[in-house]
Amino acid sequence: KRPAGAPDKALARPIGKVGVIGAGLMASQFALLFVRRLKVPVVITDLDQARVDKGVAYIHGEIRTLQDKGRISSDEANRLRALVTGTTDKADFADADWVIEAVFEELGVKQDVFAEIEKHISPTAILATNTSSLSVEQIGAKLAHPERLVGFHFFNPVAVMPLIEVVNTPATDEATLSTAMVIAAKLRKNAVITRDTPGFVVNRVLAKLLGEAMHAVDTGTPFEVVDGALASFGLPMTPFELLELVGLKVGAHVLDTHHAAFPDRFFESTNLHRLAEHGRILERNSSGKITGFDKGAVK
Ligand code: CAA
Repeated sequence: KRPAGAPDKALARPIGKVGVIGAGLMASQFALLFVRRLKVPVVITDLDQARVDKGVAYIHGEIRTLQDKGRISSDEANRLRALVTGTTDKADFADADWVIEAVFEELGVKQDVFAEIEKHISPTAILATNTSSLSVEQIGAKLAHPERLVGFHFFNPVAVMPLIEVVNTPATDEATLSTAMVIAAKLRKNAVITRDTPGFVVNRVLAKLLGEAMHAVDTGTPFEVVDGALASFGLPMTPFELLELVGLKVGAHVLDTHHAAFPDRFFESTNLHRLAEHGRILERNSSGKITGFDKGAVK
C-alpha cells in the first residue's frame, strides 16, 4: 500500500515538451532547470517579444556561467541553448505536455492566463502554477478541466533551493499529482505535497519571520538592529536580503495575503509597501555586494 499522500507513479504522464508562461526571473530560472534535467524542448512566452527576449537572454547567460564554471561542456551548452525557444504565439504550446506559469501574482491575471492557454493545449496536457500564496483551486476556477491543475512552487534561487511544494487541491486528479511528483524528482528536488492553504507551508512560516522583522521596524527598532541581530544569529540571509531576493512587491503581496487570511496573526506593514514602491532596501556596490542600507529606504 502506498503511504498517505504518495500518488501512484505509474499514472504520471510522459513529458516531451514543457511550456513556460512568464519570462521573468523565477520563470527563466525554472525554464533552465527543465531543459537541464528533463532534456526536452522548453518554450517560454510572455506579454511581448521584449520580455520573451529578456528571459531567453537570462537563460543563455546562466548556461554560459555553468559552462565557465566547468559544470557543463560546450556541447552540452549548445544542446541546452537549442532546446530553449521564446515565442509570443500560443500555438507553440499545442504539443506541450506540462505547462507552468509564473506571471504576476494576481488572482484574476492567473485565472485568465489559464483560461486562455487551455484553448491552445492538448487535452492531456498538465497545468501547473508557481504561485507563492494564492489559492491554486481559485486560480483554476475558469478552467474547463481544473482536475489537471496543480501547484508547483519553487523557491529562489531555483538552482540552489532543494524544495518544491506540490499543492494538491480538492480538484487535482491523481495523474496530475503523480506527474508533478515525477517531474520534481527528475529536477532533483525534494517535493512535499501540501494542502491548498494560504502560503502553503514554507511561505506561511517565512511570512511570519519577515512580517515580524518589518513589525519590529514599524514599531521603532532601527533596520540596522533587526538586520544585524538576525545576521549574527546565523540566518543564511537577513529578512531584508530575503525580501529583496524574492522581490519587494512579491514580499508585500505575500504578507497581505496572510494578513487577509489570518488577520489575528499577521500584521500589515505600510513600511513594506513604501519600500516596495521605493524599489530597494539595501545599498550594493557594482559587483552586487551589500554595502549598507539605501538612504531613501531607511529614513
Ligand atoms: N541564482 C543562481 N545561483 C545562485 C544564486 C542566484 N540568485 N545565488 C547563489 N547561487 C549559487 C551560487 O552561484 C553558488 O553556486 P556554485 O556552488 O555552483 O558556485 C551556490 O548558489 C552557493 O552560493 P554562495 O556560495 O554564494 O552561497 P551562500 O552561502 O551565500 O548561499 C544561498 C546562498 C543558498 C542563496 C543562501 O544565502 C540561502 O539559503 N538564502 C536563503 C534563500 C531562501 O530562503 N530562499 C527562499 C525565498 S522564499 C521564496 O522564494 C518563495 C516565494 O514564493 C517568495
